[in-house]
Amino acid sequence: MAENFVLKGNICYSQDAQTLVTVEQGYLVCLDGRSAGVYRELPQEYASFPLTDYGDRMIVPGLVDLHLHAPQYSFRGLGMDLELLEWLNTRTFPEEAKYRDTEYAKKAYSIFADNMKRSATTRACIFATLHREATEVLMDLMEESGLKTMIGKVNMDRNSPDFLIEDSAEASAEETVRWLEEISGRYRNTEPILTPRFIPTCSDELMERLKEIQTRYGLAMQSHLSENQGEIAWVKELCPWSGFYGDAYDHFGLFGNGVRTIMAHCVWPPEEEVARMRDNGVFVAHCPQSNTNLSSGIAPVRTYLDEGIQVGLGTDVAGGVGESIFRAMADAIQVSKLRWRLVDESLKPLTVEEAFYLGTKGGGAFFGKTGSFEQGYELDAVVLNDESLRHPQPLDLKDRLERFIYISDERHIDAKYVAGCQVF
Ligand code: GUN
Ligand code: FE
Repeated sequence: MAENFVLKGNICYSQDAQTLVTVEQGYLVCLDGRSAGVYRELPQEYASFPLTDYGDRMIVPGLVDLHLHAPQYSFRGLGMDLELLEWLNTRTFPEEAKYRDTEYAKKAYSIFADNMKRSATTRACIFATLHREATEVLMDLMEESGLKTMIGKVNMDRNSPDFLIEDSAEASAEETVRWLEEISGRYRNTEPILTPRFIPTCSDELMERLKEIQTRYGLAMQSHLSENQGEIAWVKELCPWSGFYGDAYDHFGLFGNGVRTIMAHCVWPPEEEVARMRDNGVFVAHCPQSNTNLSSGIAPVRTYLDEGIQVGLGTDVAGGVGESIFRAMADAIQVSKLRWRLVDESLKPLTVEEAFYLGTKGGGAFFGKTGSFEQGYELDAVVLNDESLRHPQPLDLKDRLERFIYISDERHIDAKYVAGCQVF
């Protein structure tokens, strides 16, 4: 149960993409699981709340991973010399097929859930595989972890190997409904999310059925968009009637427009696609490390921010090699500099403030009021200990945070709270 309490320490959070608020030796008040504000002096009305003093440590909002694949955690760091479609065929699909075996799923997903729990991430949108039972195993484990997640049973009924495909659109839709019925009411922290893998593996009939299921069950949705040029050309062949890749989703009513929708990657959007994402309120999951590892390219994040499109960060494990969203922040800054230097000097690189915003409040918006410590936000927090990252001189809080983004790992995370509940 979420309780009332106060955390004391060096507090940092984003107000907007440009504004990082830092409060040294401040008080973060949790009231019924939500932030009641950050204060330099503790207001009298909260003086009776139990207080944990984290001393010189930093306290920041929990990080948000808008896109990763749990079954791919077992081959992270492998096959990184391939491009998307070859990588899917040689590495991804054979590994995902193993989750037909729920014993294997338990073993592999336990490692994933343990490591997610220890990370700085408090919220995540996760792809499972097409297997209903293994997806439920993953949901059970993530529920136990204390994180708040949205998890999708994947749909794929075409252009997939015999060992990882659903028999028909009807079979895929039926399994999806059965999954939704089985898990209904089972979880507090874990929500189902509609997850057509991407256009190439989902027939038109399946997309139509998924739209019906989405409407009936009120589901958010996640998928992939404009990641790789080979993939985009393939979508053009498969959907000759579509104006552009995103239009193929929109044709089936599966592209935002009042329904919470995340599209991962969005590396190569034509102008009309950017406009449609903006008009339909589609969220972008920017996955800089994956886009580098799979030679996909560099997404135009500056354009998305300028257009007012909502953007968060994703690790895209196993396109990305690990679950760290701090690492994704550093990667986002680094690739934005290369894009600026090599592709388009009119689009300025991301700042540290912007990258921190994307990994907290930017992605957090997909979950509602999360990712900040402003009043009313759900209180997700992580306590960062940079004592062992020794430095010869005192640093101000912003420099400490920047350094932490670049050089920390999970060993430097001392405590985590999700919606006012302490996870460790
Ligand atoms: N597109 C379709 N499936 C996948 C996947 O598993 N990973 C990535 N990065 N892109 C995809
Ligand atoms: Fe992905």
